[in-house]
Amino acid sequence: MNNRVTLTRFIIEQQANVPDASGTFTMLLSNIVTACKEIAQKVNRGQLIGVLGSAGSENVQGEVQKKLDIITNDIMVNSLNWTGHLAGMASEENDEFISIPPQYKKGKYLAVFDPLDGSSNIDVNLAVGTIFSILRCREGVEPEEGDFLRKGTEQVCAGFVIYGPSTMMVLTTGNGVNGFTLDQGIGEFILTHPNMRIPEETSEFAINMSNQRFWETPVQRYIDECLQGTEGVRGKDFNMRWVASFVAEAYRILTRGGVFLYPWDNRDPKKPAKLRLLYEANPMAFIIEQAGGLCSTGRERILDIKPSGVHQRVPVILGSKNEVQRIVDYHLQS
Ligand code: F6P
Ligand code: MN
Repeated sequence: MNNRVTLTRFIIEQQANVPDASGTFTMLLSNIVTACKEIAQKVNRGQLIGVLGSAGSENVQGEVQKKLDIITNDIMVNSLNWTGHLAGMASEENDEFISIPPQYKKGKYLAVFDPLDGSSNIDVNLAVGTIFSILRCREGVEPEEGDFLRKGTEQVCAGFVIYGPSTMMVLTTGNGVNGFTLDQGIGEFILTHPNMRIPEETSEFAINMSNQRFWETPVQRYIDECLQGTEGVRGKDFNMRWVASFVAEAYRILTRGGVFLYPWDNRDPKKPAKLRLLYEANPMAFIIEQAGGLCSTGRERILDIKPSGVHQRVPVILGSKNEVQRIVDYHLQS
């Protein structure tokens, strides 16, 4: 098995296809990979090292922070702030964007991340993940918030790591989507899922049904029709999954198709949507579209949204092309 392609080899070979590439991006990615391996270790060892449970604090989103939310955020920040490749970072766990400490060189990229997605699952030993996105920045400047507010179409790279039965990294730089499995024995990610493609048809949906009464009509209609199964207009039975971990839902959709909805709802006027545009919806949308799927708010392509804030929330409907298109059509008709 010595012809296995490691993630390091894969990104170095990809870099060779980019004229004038300086290697900076490759090195940045390699630092992210190292951070994610460290996170994988912490998540895997769990209570053995006392990292489970609540930290007793709240983040800017008003969500209760788990100890691992803070630990994994520190790992990401401290693995990336010294590298000289970044001009700044933004994280789900930090109210403001993160500047590079003055003792370190600043680079031409910005990193935005959710260090531990699905962290409500951590204490019940279900899959969690890290989501990240790389953007370009004006060079040689101290970034301002506006530098982070770039449309998803401008992402240089997006990826996520899922800490599940296997630890896997899924990555795109705009040339398709590739999946790598962490070989714990050698500490390297190995290319195991080249050129991932989402089936266009599906009969599996994922939505938090407990919010049903708060949804808009097009989403009500779509889910009603799925639930009617063979007796309804769809003429087939649907299956449902809800892991409550965005990375896990996205990974399932990347491997066997499906549709995921965290739609607009009227539960709380201050939070008409749940997922965050910059470090959840955009990286996932880039990956899903690169794998042949679609990602929309129901009314707009996610990647075309001009962000208004680092922690902006958006409705997310993503997955198998034909199904997402149907939901978008229902929104257009309403
Ligand atoms: O990061 C937000 C998140 O935890 C996602 O990973 C997941 O898809 C969603 O929230 C779960 O939401 P709920 O708690 O409503 O099921
Ligand atoms: Mn998250």
